[in-house]
Amino acid sequence: MTRASDAPSGAATTLPTGVPLSDPALADRIAQRLTQVDAVLDEAVASTDALADDAGRHLVAAGGKRFRPLLTLLAGELGDGTQPQIVDAAVVVELTQVASLYHDDVMDSAPVRRGAPAAHTVWGNTVAILVGDLLFARASALVAGLGPEAVVLQSRTFERMCLGQLHETTGPGPDDDPVEHYLQVLSDKTASLLATSARLGAMFGGCPDEIVEAVAAYGEKVGMAFQLADDVLDIASSGAVSGKTPGTDLREHVPTMPVLLLRQRVTQGEGTPADAELLGRLDGDLSDDAALAAVVADLREHDVLAETRTLAVRWAREAAAELAVLPDGPVKEALTDLATALADRTV
Ligand code: IPE
Ligand code: IPE
Ligand code: MG
Ligand code: MG
Repeated sequence: MTRASDAPSGAATTLPTGVPLSDPALADRIAQRLTQVDAVLDEAVASTDALADDAGRHLVAAGGKRFRPLLTLLAGELGDGTQPQIVDAAVVVELTQVASLYHDDVMDSAPVRRGAPAAHTVWGNTVAILVGDLLFARASALVAGLGPEAVVLQSRTFERMCLGQLHETTGPGPDDDPVEHYLQVLSDKTASLLATSARLGAMFGGCPDEIVEAVAAYGEKVGMAFQLADDVLDIASSGAVSGKTPGTDLREHVPTMPVLLLRQRVTQGEGTPADAELLGRLDGDLSDDAALAAVVADLREHDVLAETRTLAVRWAREAAAELAVLPDGPVKEALTDLATALADRTV
């Protein structure tokens, strides 16, 4: 991995997040603050209880892209990026993210996370759920130091994340359009935290309201692109690269956009017999490894995957358009590049 200070001038610097930044001075500042974020994060997950300490550090230590802290730090750079609250805000959003991953892996029966065994496979569901709760509590304690506005923002975001996961589980009602319902799920379970990550950064950087609102709208739309790309990754990624097990959502019948698009075609009578047959297998028992590998292979070839990628690219473009009010410069450029990179990410 290239460290910011090692980068030749003019070349894009790859941050620890895996995200390239074309401005070396900006990349250097962000890399330094990401190191501070990791130090505060480390303290925030520490516990005097041995099991809570062990299990609570598990996913933070396993890595992750630190994408939400990156958004906070970048948005902070639109104002005074040296404000210390920006680093705490970045830790709050990463703690919220990590806590939600402990819970999500229980809900999705996911075996691997961040390249490590998911916590519930090591300590069981009860411990994984409680550790997730514990980390949410730590996020609450930290956000309290940032004042009431941040507390309300974090709690509303947490509420939306819960509702997104809840509505993903319940599925659409009889009068709901399944794709529209799913887009709302994505917005709540994922985009909400990305929007808040960006908003907090701009807020604590002291940016004017117009800029704060613009980056929050950007975060929301980038979040949609990010989660649609995640749906593609569940099918198209290699587990070695993504740190997750491909086909996890398919096996557990957790809805994803490619499958919803296939279902829409079949139910609207627009699908081929092969589409209907594939949908039948997707709705059936996928506990057998060969059966799962076969549906993954078929979906990789299917144009619903390309259609989902196109949707992700469209959301990323709309996200970038929200940045029109930002002053031209390296931060605007970085956020624009980030949107494009995310829609087409492999991790
Ligand atoms: C995983 O988020 C959960 C989603 C909302 C898709 P990331 O893909 O950002 O996971 P980490 O934080 O890098 O592990
Ligand atoms: C995760 O969504 C959303 C939250 C953690 C709130 P997914 O279940 O789609 O994400 P991955 O694929 O497991 O990372
Ligand atoms: Mg999951
Ligand atoms: Mg999930």
